[in-house]
Amino acid sequence: MVKRGMSRRAVLAAGSTIVAWQASPLRAMLRSADAAAGPATRASIDELIARMTIEEKAGQLTLMPAAWGGGIATALNPPAGNNNYPVQIADAVAGKLTGVFNGNGARMALQMQKAVMEGSRLKIPLIFAADVIHGHRTIFPVGVGEAASFEPSLAERTARVAAFEATGAGIDWTFAPMVDIARDQRWGRTMEGAGEDVLVGRLFAAARVRGFQGRNLADDDCLMACVKHFAAYGAAEAGLDYNSVDMSIQRLEEIYLRPYQAGVDAGAASVMSSFNEINGVPSNGNHWLMTDVLRDRWGFKGFVVSDYTGDEEMIAAGFAADRRDAARLAILAGVDMSMSSGVYQEHLPALVRDGQVPLAIVDQSVRRVLAAKAQVGLFDNPFRRIDLNREAQRSRLPASLALSREAGQKSIVMLKNEGGLLPLKPGTKIALIGPFAAEGRDINGPWVVYGDNGQAIDVARGLHDAGARFTVTKGSDVEASIPGGIAKAVAAAKAADVVLLAIGESEAMSGEAKSRTEIDVPAPQQALAEAIAKTGKPVVVLLRNGRALALEGAVRDARAILVTWFLGSESGHAIADVLFGKVSPSGRLPVSFPFASGQEPYYYAHKNTGRPNGPGPLAEYKAHYQGVPNSALFPFGHGLTYGDIVYSALQVAPQMSGPMRVGATITNRGSRAAVETVQLYTHQKVGSLTRPVRELKGFQKVALAPGESKTIGFTLTPDDLKFVGADGKWRIEPGLFDLWIAPSAEAEGVHGSFTYRAA
Ligand code: BGC
Repeated sequence: MVKRGMSRRAVLAAGSTIVAWQASPLRAMLRSADAAAGPATRASIDELIARMTIEEKAGQLTLMPAAWGGGIATALNPPAGNNNYPVQIADAVAGKLTGVFNGNGARMALQMQKAVMEGSRLKIPLIFAADVIHGHRTIFPVGVGEAASFEPSLAERTARVAAFEATGAGIDWTFAPMVDIARDQRWGRTMEGAGEDVLVGRLFAAARVRGFQGRNLADDDCLMACVKHFAAYGAAEAGLDYNSVDMSIQRLEEIYLRPYQAGVDAGAASVMSSFNEINGVPSNGNHWLMTDVLRDRWGFKGFVVSDYTGDEEMIAAGFAADRRDAARLAILAGVDMSMSSGVYQEHLPALVRDGQVPLAIVDQSVRRVLAAKAQVGLFDNPFRRIDLNREAQRSRLPASLALSREAGQKSIVMLKNEGGLLPLKPGTKIALIGPFAAEGRDINGPWVVYGDNGQAIDVARGLHDAGARFTVTKGSDVEASIPGGIAKAVAAAKAADVVLLAIGESEAMSGEAKSRTEIDVPAPQQALAEAIAKTGKPVVVLLRNGRALALEGAVRDARAILVTWFLGSESGHAIADVLFGKVSPSGRLPVSFPFASGQEPYYYAHKNTGRPNGPGPLAEYKAHYQGVPNSALFPFGHGLTYGDIVYSALQVAPQMSGPMRVGATITNRGSRAAVETVQLYTHQKVGSLTRPVRELKGFQKVALAPGESKTIGFTLTPDDLKFVGADGKWRIEPGLFDLWIAPSAEAEGVHGSFTYRAA
């Protein structure tokens, strides 16, 4: 085990506390950072547990929002319970807390940790957590935007930088990645995850865990990841946040559980239980989920934390009788740590004394939490990530901002580009119009605790830095019109060669508790778009959004549309890079854009039904809404480049019995370099259970120079063809399969078939 020394600054800052700690027998006992490994560490943790009172054990299982928020930390959650900072420090010293979250930087952490290391009976270091979701001070694209890159290694790199910055501010543990599959775009938290597809979800889950946790969790630039929200939180009925989930075991196992498992397999140190119930059982009281699946089946060794008061919420859900019952159900299910409600601190001691919760269960949870603290190096050095100078030294470094710009470029999806309107020619007279043109707001996106929109590059600044000729007119507010706004915008459009229309959703329209019934562009902005369209000037829509939207009228009919999500710190630069062709757009939709809100939940991997409406006109008594096809306006996987890409020459053998190579030729007939995301899909024609019309089995990003052709190969394995049968077990069934290598989930690309037979 590498012994990690402290920086000189940290020693000076924490002073005598550290000297005392270094000499302490507890440190000697628990210094091993590799909790998962050594029996020695386990034995020393057990020794420590033997010295703890039941109240101190309940304290180690109790996490609270930091009472000292404010400053750079935006208040995201109302402080629960005690929000008085001195009282919170006293609680920590009394052993009533394991740590706090969403606090304010190294100064707060130093004060709290020092108080605990000097004044508490057992001197168990506090742990500092935070919602570092898509960046800390350098902000990266929101999760769904970054997933549009179809480049998991990019997500690993941005998570690494987020960890580097956050650990500089004293943070040991992030509540990320959020890996919930989002198939209903009314759900506001779509913005946080990797979209609708299970393969993309799995790859991004694992990449983000690797990025946050780095090489060695004990390093001072690595932090614990937390895979959330376990489980199936994204499947809330009708896209209503917190709503119930009711689904077949097949769908749960095949789609929803797999990204969490990928995060666990990547070594995530913690998991957060979700607010929702599944089939009548709230996650926080679900022993099958928290113990049978997570631990016994997947071998998870870390700890589970409840989501914010989620344990207590089992009362309102009608599953727990009162707070004491909620604490009992949660700890028995396997939820190790309680966030914000205080029910463990309040009731675990009496529940143990009354014999309703075995002491061994509490000890097991305490052991997991202490092991995690050892693993992140806190026993070796409680001040490992606390250094008053480091936060500034690590914040917004040029390389971090450059990565944000790269991530922004790769997250932008070009939905259409009629007549090759983009890229714009130098010298084009531009009218930049819309509520997101220039106001320095709504750039970073939801779930940013420590970032500052004031430091982010808006579209106007991006155009300015690119040397563009442009005027700026707001035209409309996000959800309200501005008196005279449309008239001014129309005049500006008439005076220009091209209009850039920066419209869409504000930060307040997506994120937690931000479900929408209509996933449209708000009416005042739609009216602005209609008026601009009447000028006849070519329009490029720059869409800001945290979910897929149902585009209508002049927005849908604009000559060009770029999906720009919430791109973070370097947003305007990344958008200008694409607009002027410094880079070719390469993002692909990780969520399908429907024709209409009423199609939700719409996802490409749906079933055929017995009455599919084939391609072509809508037929009576076939599966579709009145006047709307049962397909997407812009499907999952769709996205254009400045190249002109053609798929040809499918290679697939007629029979498969083991791993099989398949491939196709991809050609760029255009005059500009392009990056194409080549996608492999299959469909089992007949099964003992019906199968989705298509399932993504692989993808590759391919760079193609003008005129260049490449043969792109994939290896399809029998495992890729497995599904969960009626008996709840994974199986593979022989039979005929369709196969596509295509540019999106609903494009034909090249299409063939093969028969699978076991060897
Ligand atoms: C959210 C979590 C978050 C927690 C702490 C909850 O409301 O659902 O995703 O980590 O608050 O801020």
